Amino acid sequence: MNGTIDIAPSILSADFSRLGEEIAAVERGGATILHVDVMDGHFVPNITIGLPVVKSIARVTRLPIDAHLMISEPGRYAEQFVKAGAQMVSIHVEADNHLHRTLMSIKGAGAQAGIVVNPATSVESLVDALPFADYVLVMSVNPGFGGQKFISPSLDKLRRLKRMIEERQLRTRIEIDGGIDLDNIASVVAAGAEIIVAGSAIFGAPDPEAAVKGLREATVQWV
Ligand code: DX5
Ligand code: ZN
Repeated sequence: MNGTIDIAPSILSADFSRLGEEIAAVERGGATILHVDVMDGHFVPNITIGLPVVKSIARVTRLPIDAHLMISEPGRYAEQFVKAGAQMVSIHVEADNHLHRTLMSIKGAGAQAGIVVNPATSVESLVDALPFADYVLVMSVNPGFGGQKFISPSLDKLRRLKRMIEERQLRTRIEIDGGIDLDNIASVVAAGAEIIVAGSAIFGAPDPEAAVKGLREATVQWV
């Protein structure tokens, strides 16, 4: 592979009562992005965290914050997440009737804009949206919860998306989220993913710092 591989721990599986310490541990382990899952109990069947938490985290971490908005009508909130301190904001194609407008508003506010696709949404449907996105996040589980099993046809989806990007000579990066662990991280990187989200494989491990290092080492052959 050619690009840099980012390891992006998802704080969804962290101990929220010790969030600062958990973040410090993954920073020491070599994480390069912090993935924050925002859920509204409407687009997905779970409620997590929102703007105030992003604001607090931004004060204690040197890592770029990647806000993954699993919310209906994300266009109403996307810019506010940039103002709260997110350097990357992604929105689900299934949740937004005005994708172009929302992507432009994220970029206009000074952050990178990402498009997210659920497991049953085809990447081919993104062909006209790709030039407007800095990254595409491929969900390899149904969004809503950490700790689910990787849906393996996602690998072929990554390959097809990678090909679409290369054929158009775009610089769009590919992110993968859901069920990533030591056993499958090398295969998602080989298939084209460059930003690797992992929640339970990191914060569910006895030593999150070591878990980040382990995941990174498993990708080394591809860098
Ligand atoms: C799921 C979230 C993920 C989740 C990943 O809806 O978007 O970011 O935290 O957790 P794992 O790595 O445990 O599947
Ligand atoms: Zn996520």
